[in-house]
Amino acid sequence: MYLTRLIYASTISNDISPSAVADILDSANKHNKLNDVTGVLFFDDKYFLQCLEGSRYQTNETYSRLLLDSRHSDLVLLEFKDISVRSFPDWTMGFIPESVLSKSIYLKFSPQKSFDPYNLSSESAYKMLLELKEVLPE
Ligand SMILES: Cc1cc2nc3c(=O)[nH]c(=O)nc-3n(C[C@H](O)[C@H](O)[C@H](O)COP(=O)(O)O)c2cc1C
Repeated sequence: MYLTRLIYASTISNDISPSAVADILDSANKHNKLNDVTGVLFFDDKYFLQCLEGSRYQTNETYSRLLLDSRHSDLVLLEFKDISVRSFPDWTMGFIPESVLSKSIYLKFSPQKSFDPYNLSSESAYKMLLELKEVLPE
């Protein structure tokens, strides 16, 4: 079985309130537990940046469902690669709120002044999520 990491960016749909993120996380946690998928979801009131880790089949299958979800749009795949170990093994879907992203962290990974996940390289997106995980309060 190949272990795979998938990272994508998307934009929350206009008619969805940011409070709907709680429902999204419920659904994500439920499915990911069953599918042995782990990962992290960052949300900044407009954009999502999500990392999924699991078997090649399950990450593909999850992403196929995500593409059909009308709560977000403009999904852009930033990374899809084989990995030997998971970087987020303890989270069926860890949530990182906007408040955790300080300007200094963001500017380390992006040349732009405001957060725009579509303009992150795959490596920057991955490293930024790793760093956000480290600064996330317990
Ligand atoms: C930003 C975002 C992130 C999501 N993350 C996941 C996820 O990690 N795993 C998952 O199975 N579904 C995730 N979902 C939900 C799926 O798109 C889909 O709605 C769900 O799997 C359908 O199952 P349900 O009808 O049981 O809720 C996410 C949806 C959105 C909008």
